[in-house]
Amino acid sequence: MKKNIAVLAGDGIGPEVMNEAIKVLDAIAEKFDHKFIYEHALVGGAAFDIFRNHFPKETEEKCRKADAILFGSVGGPVDKMTDVKWKNCEVLSILALRKRFDFNINLRPVQLYENLWHRCILKDEILKDGVDILCIRELNGGIYFGEHKTEEKNGKKTAYDTMVYGEESIEKIAHVAFKAAMKRKKKVSSVDKANILDCSKLWREVVEKVAQEYPECELEHVLVDNMAMQVLKRPGSFDVILCSNMFGDIISDEISVFSGSLGMLPSASLNSDGFGMYEPSGGSAQDIAGKNIANPIAQILSAAMMLKHSFEMNKEYDCIVNAVKQTLADGCFTKDISGKHPSVSTQIMGDAIIKFIIN
Ligand code: IPM
Ligand code: MG
Repeated sequence: MKKNIAVLAGDGIGPEVMNEAIKVLDAIAEKFDHKFIYEHALVGGAAFDIFRNHFPKETEEKCRKADAILFGSVGGPVDKMTDVKWKNCEVLSILALRKRFDFNINLRPVQLYENLWHRCILKDEILKDGVDILCIRELNGGIYFGEHKTEEKNGKKTAYDTMVYGEESIEKIAHVAFKAAMKRKKKVSSVDKANILDCSKLWREVVEKVAQEYPECELEHVLVDNMAMQVLKRPGSFDVILCSNMFGDIISDEISVFSGSLGMLPSASLNSDGFGMYEPSGGSAQDIAGKNIANPIAQILSAAMMLKHSFEMNKEYDCIVNAVKQTLADGCFTKDISGKHPSVSTQIMGDAIIKFIIN
């Protein structure tokens, strides 16, 4: 199969982990007789340097023409957030991409890998049932995209962020969650704050209604504050966690601890036509950028998700995931997951995964 991929490596560790993902994709193309054509494009601070724009038209065009987007990360160093290059960089690039392509579905799978138990800070008794959670986050609505404004009266400021949800967008994401759960352990835990928020009351009502179309699927509603606690106490009892935009942002970071490092977590953002953008859940990690120590696994697994969700290449997806598992089982760890063990570089981690793909 021939596929065009828009590659937006971005800032910080983006370019170096992206290199490893491309190496992996090349190995897959060779093994399974595909042709991947990469259209590299600038985004974030890297784009601002050239275009004075975090998401230039050129980049948008390349994305529009591609079969899928592989995204690295964007954002600047913590102490430079107010520089014009980095100010609002994430909003002007990632959020702009989400809006432009209507990416309303966000998939964030979290697993506890066999020999990364030593990197999870939680007690063994909590982890004994294993962890395999798919967080499904509504990505194009809610408080992120409602009206934002700051007013000033008599020298005192007041800020507003409006949370808005329509039935239709809740219905769409709920169907995605139930369909995913039907292929997994058939359980959806829907997160809301229905004791307070109107948006959450509507969320619960619509999720209930959609659930009736999936009678085999178990549904539980969990208030977001309670979920923050329950998921740490009984992670093994969750299958699909369904969240609105902001709750999903928070809960997905929280559950990343089960994988040992944010550097392990891939994600997929999809629209209703099946077009997708794939990116690590972590950020640009400027503090370790350019040192060849970043973990490339999140980027590599994001590329794997692209093969599965955008190109229906299931064998190829399995091949990458198994290679990652074998590499970890082999004791090959980057610094973020090595604990007391010796660590390898970004490039060596990529090479090790490729060895298991080829063999
Ligand atoms: C994420 C990130 C983004 C979000 C930021 C960078 C805008 O935290 O993808 O989880 O809040 O959605
Ligand atoms: Mg986040």
